Amino acid sequence: MGRLVLLVLVLLQVSSSWAATGSVYTSFVQCLSDQMKQPDQITKIVYAQNNPSFTSVLRAYIRNARFNTTSTPKPVIIVTPTQESHVQAAVLCAKKNGIQIRTRSGGHDYEGVSYVSNVPFIILDMFNLRSVVIDIKQQTAFVQVGATLGELYYKISEQSKVHGYPAGVCPTVGVGGHLSGGGYGFMVRKYGLTTDNVIDAQIVDVNGRLLDRKAMGEDLFWAIRGGGGASFGVILSYTITLVPVPETVTVFRVERTLEENATDVVYRWQHVAPTTDENLFMRMLIQPVTSQSAKGQKTIRASIVALFLGRADDVVTLLGKEFPELGLKKEDVKEMSWIESMVWANFENVTSAEILLNRNPDKATFGKRKSDYVQTPISKDGLEWLWKRMIELGKPGLVFNPYGGKMSTIPASALPFPHRAGNLFKVQYSISWGEAGPDAEKTNLGLTRRLYSYMTAFVSKNPRSAYLNYRDLDIGINHHGNNSYEEGKVYGVKYFNANFDRLVKVKTAVDPDDFFRNEQSIPPLPRKA
Ligand SMILES: Cc1cc2nc3c(=O)[nH]c(=O)nc-3n(C[C@H](O)[C@H](O)[C@H](O)COP(=O)(O)OP(=O)(O)OC[C@H]3O[C@@H](n4cnc5c(N)ncnc54)[C@H](O)[C@@H]3O)c2cc1C
Ligand SMILES: *[C@@H]1O[C@H](CO)[C@@H](O)[C@H](O)[C@H]1NC(C)=O
Ligand SMILES: *[C@@H]1O[C@H](CO)[C@@H](O)[C@H](O)[C@H]1NC(C)=O
Ligand SMILES: *[C@@H]1O[C@H](CO)[C@@H](O)[C@H](O)[C@H]1NC(C)=O
Ligand SMILES: *[C@@H]1O[C@H](CO)[C@@H](O)[C@H](O)[C@H]1NC(C)=O
Repeated sequence: MGRLVLLVLVLLQVSSSWAATGSVYTSFVQCLSDQMKQPDQITKIVYAQNNPSFTSVLRAYIRNARFNTTSTPKPVIIVTPTQESHVQAAVLCAKKNGIQIRTRSGGHDYEGVSYVSNVPFIILDMFNLRSVVIDIKQQTAFVQVGATLGELYYKISEQSKVHGYPAGVCPTVGVGGHLSGGGYGFMVRKYGLTTDNVIDAQIVDVNGRLLDRKAMGEDLFWAIRGGGGASFGVILSYTITLVPVPETVTVFRVERTLEENATDVVYRWQHVAPTTDENLFMRMLIQPVTSQSAKGQKTIRASIVALFLGRADDVVTLLGKEFPELGLKKEDVKEMSWIESMVWANFENVTSAEILLNRNPDKATFGKRKSDYVQTPISKDGLEWLWKRMIELGKPGLVFNPYGGKMSTIPASALPFPHRAGNLFKVQYSISWGEAGPDAEKTNLGLTRRLYSYMTAFVSKNPRSAYLNYRDLDIGINHHGNNSYEEGKVYGVKYFNANFDRLVKVKTAVDPDDFFRNEQSIPPLPRKA
């Protein structure tokens, strides 16, 4: 088919009812068609709002029901590149048409920043670019951004029982957002952040150039390992280093309520979890629940979910010595392979690793997350006060993720993610709800913000730090006006501490006109008049 006929066919999909966005659509598609080597591919990768598949493509990677409503702003166009050159063309054509790009890899952004914007925008949806090539000999892997962590883990396990990768727990998280924003999982104490284990990357910059590590230079390569990809361009792939894991690992989950001395357990956990053997990672979830013993009364339940890179007997002995308050017994722990531990951490009663390949999990609920860092242990009095507040609020929970180990050995400036030595653990505030509508949203956001405010005395100050991958628009947003640098500094210093200014320098060098921007992107320095 001729280029012109195709173009007319595509353009015919535009109905007259949306003339304004329609005109952007028309000139964007025209531009894309001019750029593409095979313009007959265009119908396969471009979705206008009135395309019958638009809604299902948009919804496929929405993971938070808060951004799945009729009033959620929709993109003018969704582009689903199948080749690297499509990304280059889309960047050039979006820039030419003055329309913003939101890049989506796995869609897990807690504030929907990868697929929602208040200004006209297109989504560059990367799910087709998801190849994973494992090289066991070199102990590396080439991973495109649209791959999920589950796919990566599965493909590693197909080739080796003694290799793994230290990334997030949830298998549907996308490589693109996760690695560019830092990333951590059950092996963070042994091997550091996900992005500490990256050796190369490919990015399409604002001029449509495809650059690898050598071509982009060490400053930009530094920035896209923790500074967030979305401020700098569109990342296509990362090359990562695999890490050794034992053939047999050990997992356990132990729960204690206040009646079962949860306060002593949590208090002691703060001293043990960040300092113990780096082969042991003990995440702790703290929630208000209804008491089983005292009928109808509320209590606090602390659950420890752990992975030990070693044998069952050894972890039971270790914790018997270091953490007698936990009372861990042989029957509490279970040995399995590393890949099985990733299944165990996510699914009840499932053992087959194939489940990690499922890109479409059960339907998501409404949710909000926030983050903090604790640098000195909270006293028992402090914990008991906190339990009362959590029981009053009734809903939001806390997840404590211990650092120490390898995290303490990496300098804060090595990568944009600065929260290393000196941080005992990260706190995630977590709330999920099932009722649609603004009232439920207001209530649930309010509860979470109150818990965050109750925690003020216990967490890092000046700045009160936060983790980029736990995106939280409460901590500041940018309007990209004349105060863009000052506005950016508000959230930027919380996410990146002293690394913020280096990120600004990189941004100023690679995208001085701030084409790649969002509510919390890195601002460039203002141009000198
Ligand atoms: C259920 C769940 C579990 C999680 N568990 C963990 C965990 O265990 N550990 C952890 O560290 N984090 C965890 N997270 C947070 C997660 O790491 C971040 O949300 C991460 O950014 C998601 O990546 P994504 O590609 O799925 O997200 P997306 O929503 O696609 O993207 C997130 C951000 O990155 C940008 N981006 C995405 N792809 C690209 C690209 N190719 N180029 C440039 N910019 C890009 C987006 O524009 C957006 O700003 C979890 C999140 C959820 C929802
Ligand atoms: C989005 O809404 C549709 C229609 O109500 C629903 O089928 C889908 O499961 C929802 N997705 C999420 C993530 O809430
Ligand atoms: C709680 O602590 C008390 C006092 O140390 C102890 O006697 C009791 O056995 C503990 N309970 C549990 C469930 O560990
Ligand atoms: C898992 O198995 C246990 C024991 O058979 C059962 O009690 C539980 O309900 C199962 N959980 C799920 C989610 O199927
Ligand atoms: C930004 O600054 C320029 C130059 O000083 C000025 O003309 C413009 O009105 C300002 N814009 C806003 C939104 O304040």
